[in-house]
Amino acid sequence: MDTSLDPHPRSAVRARALTKVYGTGAAQVHALAGVDVDFSAGRFTAIMGPSGSGKSTLMHVLAGLDAATSGAAYLGETDVTTLNDDALTRLRRDRVGFVFQSFNLLPMFTAEQNILLPLELAGASPDRAWFDTLVATLGLGERLSHRPSELSGGQQQRVAIARALIAKPEVVFADEPTGNLDSRSGAEVLSFLRRSVRELGRTIIMVTHDPAAAAYADRVVLLADGRIAGDIQDPTPEAVLTGLDALRQLETTSPAVEA
Ligand SMILES: Nc1ncnc2c1ncn2[C@@H]1O[C@H](COP(=O)(O)OP(=O)(O)OP(=O)(O)O)[C@@H](O)[C@H]1O
Ligand SMILES: [Mg+2]
Repeated sequence: MDTSLDPHPRSAVRARALTKVYGTGAAQVHALAGVDVDFSAGRFTAIMGPSGSGKSTLMHVLAGLDAATSGAAYLGETDVTTLNDDALTRLRRDRVGFVFQSFNLLPMFTAEQNILLPLELAGASPDRAWFDTLVATLGLGERLSHRPSELSGGQQQRVAIARALIAKPEVVFADEPTGNLDSRSGAEVLSFLRRSVRELGRTIIMVTHDPAAAAYADRVVLLADGRIAGDIQDPTPEAVLTGLDALRQLETTSPAVEA
């Protein structure tokens, strides 16, 4: 049974037989060894798995930040693996948002300027109502004129999330967005990510190591050795832990198992 296909109707992102091989000869690493997965629009999905299982690679290939070795990676109906560099640059600018572990804000700009930067770069004029909605949803109203150094880590990450959402991208990819935050600011950021999906209809795909963080998502996809190894709908922290334990059992008892 293929459990990696999400029952939710419209896919924002799809991978088909996706592979990524780094290096050559004896040094070859099969970071993605044939990934088939659908990520539904309007949902919050977490990707989990052991270190080195291919989580960041999957996200980078899906987002057009890194080239695939074979297979297809669709954003909507566009196979990003077929695009040239110019088309990829436009796709990343116009259709995808990113949130990283390190907040990557520009230090000399205020929170407001950081949020509006993607529109500035695209030469697009801001939708003021959407800006206000994001600022209210992310609780940034009192902080707009502050520079990053005058903000807490959690506030900086909320600015980074608003920046990722300002151009209404089809999907936001977040790689360990709470990795640098204490548990309270992390919980705040996760609540905001969930609200962005539930109340603002956005689509978010997040890599995390933390089962409690993953439980904020609507669904958890498990990755092991570059393959999809599990799929949990409406995850609880307990269900995620059980799923990760099952992966470890698999790894220790049958290292040569083929999916
Ligand atoms: N640029 C690269 N060159 C060579 N090998 C790489 C490169 N990037 C990743 N890899 C290898 O590909 C595999 C998958 O790496 P990836 O970063 O996707 O894992 P991950 O699941 O994100 O791990 P972590 O949880 O530690 O962030 C690993 O074996 C890694 O060493
Ligand atoms: Mg990673």
